[in-house]
Amino acid sequence: MRIDSHLPGNWLRTDRARLPGEGPLYRRLAGAIRDAVCRGEAGAGSRLPSERDLARSLGLSRTTVVAAYRLLREEGLLESVRGSGTRVAVHRSVGPAVPAADMPALKLPERPPDGVVDCQSSVVPDLGGVPDEILNVTAGDLRATAADADYEPLGLPVLRAAVADHYTRLGLPTTAEQVLVTNGAQQAISLLFTLFSRGQGVIVAENPTYTGALDSARAAGARIVGLPVDEEGVKVGALRAALGRTRVQLLYLMTAGQNPTGAAMSTERRHDVARLVAAAGVPVVDDMTLADLAFDGRSSGPFAATAVGATVVTVGSLSKLFWPGLRVGWVRAPEQLIARLARLKVVADLGSSHVGQLIAVRLLPRIAEMAATRREQLAVRRDLLSGLLHAELPDWSWTRPRGGAFLWVRLPYGDAEEFARLALAHGVLVLPGSRTSTDGSFADHLRISYVAEPAELRLAAQRLSRAWAAQGRGSSAPGLSA
Ligand SMILES: Cc1ncc(COP(=O)(O)O)c(C=O)c1O
Repeated sequence: MRIDSHLPGNWLRTDRARLPGEGPLYRRLAGAIRDAVCRGEAGAGSRLPSERDLARSLGLSRTTVVAAYRLLREEGLLESVRGSGTRVAVHRSVGPAVPAADMPALKLPERPPDGVVDCQSSVVPDLGGVPDEILNVTAGDLRATAADADYEPLGLPVLRAAVADHYTRLGLPTTAEQVLVTNGAQQAISLLFTLFSRGQGVIVAENPTYTGALDSARAAGARIVGLPVDEEGVKVGALRAALGRTRVQLLYLMTAGQNPTGAAMSTERRHDVARLVAAAGVPVVDDMTLADLAFDGRSSGPFAATAVGATVVTVGSLSKLFWPGLRVGWVRAPEQLIARLARLKVVADLGSSHVGQLIAVRLLPRIAEMAATRREQLAVRRDLLSGLLHAELPDWSWTRPRGGAFLWVRLPYGDAEEFARLALAHGVLVLPGSRTSTDGSFADHLRISYVAEPAELRLAAQRLSRAWAAQGRGSSAPGLSA
């Protein structure tokens, strides 16, 4: 078994005051180590920090660390190796590490603890406006589909046709053959990055960008290069320079609703970018997952309809308007690309569940209606949270987002990663900006979502303000009471 690298003293990223649980400190420390190994922060064979280093980084006595390691050795989770300290036992079914540092989206985390306001999510958690008759899939529906289709790796023909109609209505003539159904937009991005980064590719993306895209790029072994974004989207000068300098395999953009900044590309910018990519012959992925949440309601339509001279792959999803649990997304691309992606889709899962696809077919014609509802809901919540934070935290700054689900906040000082931990201790989950960064920048930014109910947003603003005051005082005193 491969021995993973030596874990640094601060690998638990916590301190004495924030060790979870109750009882003697060594038991709480053992619990924190157990949890970290379970999450994948350390793999089988990883060498733990020396007792002295761990004690120093957590502000504990060496005796406490010795006792915690002993307890975990007795449990069989850790083992001693003569001459080289303590490591995660290799005979246990632990597997290699998948540390959070490599997977910034942290898509697997536990739900936020009870009482915590979730300001990380980008989904309004209700299917309120969707009538039951749409959601009711009957035994008859399932029997009819099962009689007609088995794996269908490209997706149910009826759904592919419905997605094609959707784009045709948006001004981008599309046939069913140009559509591949995926398990959410996330799988679409992952298949695309895998395909285009064969042979050590460079993927160019906006910086900051969608965390799941960063994960996919890393998982595909691609190098990701970031470009600056302003209110109108990716900056043209930087794009021109990157296309001239690097052998770019793929450009990943969110032209109609940028995560996390909420930017939407102006018409002029779209034309400039379209000209550049057409001339460079670089394919573009336009991730339209958040496109229906543009507040002016005047989404300029798919970038593919503007950039006719370029290869543009459009990614879409039903997650943000309806329900991420459906796991229905898609790729719209030239047919030959769809065929290549379908091969990768077969390897990944042989095709998406037909049950979700049956519901998706019924939801697609309701996109415009649901988008109007979500925009109204989110515009109110954006203004509410903006107003509250302006009042409570006047030295925080952000640009009013034109769409999407987040305030992209710049802190006047301090480290956002540290502050996000403190905010969680005060009962609000927010995303530190560095998790959205291609290069570790934006350490002074927070992504704060406003999808939660108004009462929750009020609570979030109060708690953030308290956490900020506590940060100033250098205290981490939690207070979930308000
Ligand atoms: C820009 C962007 N793309 C893709 C996704 C993934 O969406 P899905 O649930 O369809 O996989 C998200 C989800 O947060 C997103 O914000």
